[in-house]
Amino acid sequence: MENLVEDAKRILNLNWKDGFTIPTNKLYPFQWNWDSGFTSIGHSHFDLDFAIRELQSLFSGQWENGMLPHIIFHSENEKTYFPNFEFWNSNVNLGAPQKPKSSGITQPAVHGFVLENLLEKFPDDEKLIAFVKDIFPKVVKSHRFLYTYRDPKREGLMFIFHPWESGRDNSPLWDESLDRIVINPDELPKYERRDTSIAPSDERPTSYEYDRYVYLLQLGKKNKYDEQGIFEESPFLVQDTLMNAALIKSNQSLINIGKRFGLDIGELEEWQQQSVPRFQEKLWNTDLQTFTPFDIRGGHHISFKEIGGLSALYAEIPTQEQAKQLNDYLSSLHERGFYICPSFDVDSPLFDSKRYWRGPIWPQMNWMIYHGLNKYDFDKTAEIVKSDLIELVSMHGYYEYFESQKSLAKNMTSGYGGGDFSWTAACTLDLIKT
Ligand code: DGY
Repeated sequence: MENLVEDAKRILNLNWKDGFTIPTNKLYPFQWNWDSGFTSIGHSHFDLDFAIRELQSLFSGQWENGMLPHIIFHSENEKTYFPNFEFWNSNVNLGAPQKPKSSGITQPAVHGFVLENLLEKFPDDEKLIAFVKDIFPKVVKSHRFLYTYRDPKREGLMFIFHPWESGRDNSPLWDESLDRIVINPDELPKYERRDTSIAPSDERPTSYEYDRYVYLLQLGKKNKYDEQGIFEESPFLVQDTLMNAALIKSNQSLINIGKRFGLDIGELEEWQQQSVPRFQEKLWNTDLQTFTPFDIRGGHHISFKEIGGLSALYAEIPTQEQAKQLNDYLSSLHERGFYICPSFDVDSPLFDSKRYWRGPIWPQMNWMIYHGLNKYDFDKTAEIVKSDLIELVSMHGYYEYFESQKSLAKNMTSGYGGGDFSWTAACTLDLIKT
């Protein structure tokens, strides 16, 4: 364990770029939104100042409408990533900062619960308290963006219009929505992927998917990234489980923080009162006995068992009975020889234990699900979720994601995607120290 802790520290320092942390060299050479939240928790184990600066840097890219972009391009010279800041051209939105440049979409709203996590670790640290009070309204503003622009019917559930927003880029969840997009090669701008020259292409999304990611990016850009046109035009419009669960969890964390410091929590409480029951009713899939996203365009549930549904545990959304179903599902996967939690249904023909979000194990998901299971007193499964991640990292190193079939993983010497990965180091470290 001592070696793991030392190595996590090495990676967090290696990826620290004087004010923020890149997820990994070359593949992701800028600051990513939800990565930064988890990385901040990791830094706090060694240097609380780094943890604070990480979040300050991220919020320096916040837009006037409140949106917190999924990438902040602190450096305009780095050439190893596509799509870069010029391709996003986020300044078509007048409220996007000129500097730092950013992407035009968002990612899971983890920062409320990250702040609460830091406060639990350092309840009396004056610098942290001052920082939390200062950033609190900005985090609330980022939630207000989601409830305003992404919930036009005022349902209490926000939508995403791009798979990258969900954090689970190429999950089979999105296949049907992406299939609706018919690409006209003359209209799609020419582009060159960089990711597949850095990571093996069979561990990354396909070019069919990338064409559609670019199509949706163009659609957002055309609508200046916050206009009603996105809701009207986008073939991809989904009320996602993980996105809404992270938002609900962060609402609650902000309410708790606000109560402690006497800050205004009226709006947060209103969102919460509507969102929690709505999530629980609308996103519960009785056939599958898990939560699944709702495809607004198709008008139906996206009926697959996958990891986003389990994140509801962390937000304490499920009833005790629903939570039991989720716990039973995880236990059965464990008994069948899988590391838990695979990112997609292992019994589906679409399961691919190697390819990005179509089956591998993701460290930050284990972190959330571990805490979620504990809240419902499923301590035994929680311990497996924790020890599985620690075992994978011990065997293979701090990779971006990992093989979920034990029989295969045991004969491998590395994980998948990028190496020396920040949130893997951060989440594993935090679980070791918990
Ligand atoms: C990528 O580039 O693969 C990211 O997941 C999208 O931000």
